[in-house]
Amino acid sequence: MGILYGIGVGPGDSELLTVKAVRTIEKCDVIVAPSAQEDGASIALETAREYIKEGTEVCIKHFPMGGKERLKKSLEAYEFIEARLREGKNVAFLTIGDPYVYSTYIHMLSHVEEHGFQVKTIPGITSFCAAASLANKTLVIGNENLLILPASKVDTIRDEKFVVIMKVYKREEEVLNILEEKGFKYVYASRVGRDGEVLLTDREEILKLRDYMSLIIASRDEI
Ligand SMILES: C[S@@+](CC[C@H](N)C(=O)[O-])C[C@H]1O[C@@H](n2cnc3c(N)ncnc32)[C@H](O)[C@@H]1O
Repeated sequence: MGILYGIGVGPGDSELLTVKAVRTIEKCDVIVAPSAQEDGASIALETAREYIKEGTEVCIKHFPMGGKERLKKSLEAYEFIEARLREGKNVAFLTIGDPYVYSTYIHMLSHVEEHGFQVKTIPGITSFCAAASLANKTLVIGNENLLILPASKVDTIRDEKFVVIMKVYKREEEVLNILEEKGFKYVYASRVGRDGEVLLTDREEILKLRDYMSLIIASRDEI
């Protein structure tokens, strides 16, 4: 039986994969990468492309954002992977950032574990850690909490001083309104590590850009 490797490939910069991720990608027989769009490209695959050996089977699997379709698609991806594992092949499932942070890998993994296959997960640099380094902005310090949340839950921020808001696309205005109201300073990071990488702190520029691959790091009080 083969082994399934869940591999975090980092934010999208091919120099921000770990040595372990690269070595594992090189030795796997099959590479599976998620795509948000049907027949779309996979950012995770593009990030890891130069490390994939010639002759390796590569497959992009479509994972819709939510609902019943997502369950159906993760089952389809699982069946594809299971067939390869039963043939004794080692399969790498690539994820942007880290595999255990808001990732399609988590949905797919539930099927794999139910069927008793061996799984090894290799962590990746999260998008928000990469964004913090790019912006030279502290994520959290001392005894403070760090709240990481999707933009859809931005109204749950209470007295935290340090927050990371993921999935801000199409909710930019709502997020900025709440952050400003609560006295946060923020930086909007888009396409970190990729073509089009940009950091913005100006409200109007953020509202003009609106990019799916974006997040916001915010903090209150000078540190
Ligand atoms: C499905 S989550 C994936 C998170 C990923 N597993 C991680 O560890 O960072 C997608 C969200 O991650 C953030 N993201 C991923 N890559 C990014 C990048 N290169 N630049 C900025 N934000 C990114 C965006 O907020 C995007 O909406």
